[in-house]
Amino acid sequence: MARKKIALIGGGQIGGVLAQLCALRELGDVVMFDIVEGLPQGKMLDIAEVGPVDGFDVNLKGTNSYEDIEGADVVIVTAGLPRKPGMSRDDLIEVNSKIMTQVAEGIKKYAPKSFVIVISNPLDAMVTLCQKVTGFPYSRVMGQAGVLDSSRFASFIAWELGVSVKDVVAVTLGGHGDDMVPLVRYTSVCGIPVMELLERKYNDKAKAKEVMEAMVKRTRGAGGEVVALLKTGSAFYSPASSAIAMAESILKDQKRVLPTCCFLQGEFGVNGYYVGVPAVLGENGVEKIIEFALDAEEQAMMDKSVAAVKGLVDSMKF
Ligand code: APR
Repeated sequence: MARKKIALIGGGQIGGVLAQLCALRELGDVVMFDIVEGLPQGKMLDIAEVGPVDGFDVNLKGTNSYEDIEGADVVIVTAGLPRKPGMSRDDLIEVNSKIMTQVAEGIKKYAPKSFVIVISNPLDAMVTLCQKVTGFPYSRVMGQAGVLDSSRFASFIAWELGVSVKDVVAVTLGGHGDDMVPLVRYTSVCGIPVMELLERKYNDKAKAKEVMEAMVKRTRGAGGEVVALLKTGSAFYSPASSAIAMAESILKDQKRVLPTCCFLQGEFGVNGYYVGVPAVLGENGVEKIIEFALDAEEQAMMDKSVAAVKGLVDSMKF
């Protein structure tokens, strides 16, 4: 059986971690494309040379030419500028739209059958643009945001309750911006609703609510928290790991249910926009969007988040 092929478009901070994770997990052969000469070649050589130590056996190649992504099964896009302190993701739209248009044309030409996972920001707008330029079916173009946003929310809950991060299940919906919707009601620790545990911890409902509100706020601003600390760029380990979970579910047909930026056609009251929702990812890409009931407060938060996505996407000229 032929090995799977993964193309990484963008060989910066996230691209490097993606390549290393693909290699360590032997997900397939990897090609990294970047416009900077020598950068993808150097990074891939650096990773490849430690194969004997790490014990992975995959081919790794860096390139400045799109031909090399030919036949890729999965393409992960990180091309584009990251934020600097004080910037919102939306501030990147102009510059990253130009980059995304070029990238999508390259993918359309050389990897026409691929599944595409976009990480570049502003995420919801960049996925929309990528799908429009490639013309690929919606099931084959998706964005990574929700896996990470949910992971950040789960981390804060685990730290607060002093339990293993492995036992927290958390989900966020909506756009990848400050209005994202961490869903407290559907968040649990070993199946136990998180608010019940917080209320028991503090023996005080108001205090538990206050603590949860702080965690929701931190989740919404978690990307910016990292940017403010790093000063020179944005988070890169965590977005890479999150996208790899999505790629792995597709490549191995795992059918994992992962929060994914998907094109909605009526689900959650949204029509014609890419928004983060739980979806089944398998050999056919986005195989199913998982819909469930939101209460009035959750729907209002979702509507607000979707309105922000619409504002941004509608400002783009296609
Ligand atoms: N084609 C391919 N690669 C490009 C192009 C292009 N037209 N333009 C820029 N790049 C490359 C840069 O050369 C750089 O190596 O994209 C890479 C981006 O890497 P970093 O600047 O290190 O950014 P990174 O932290 O990896 O984030 C990439 O993901 O999370 C988002 O907000 C983040 O939009 C940013 C993207």
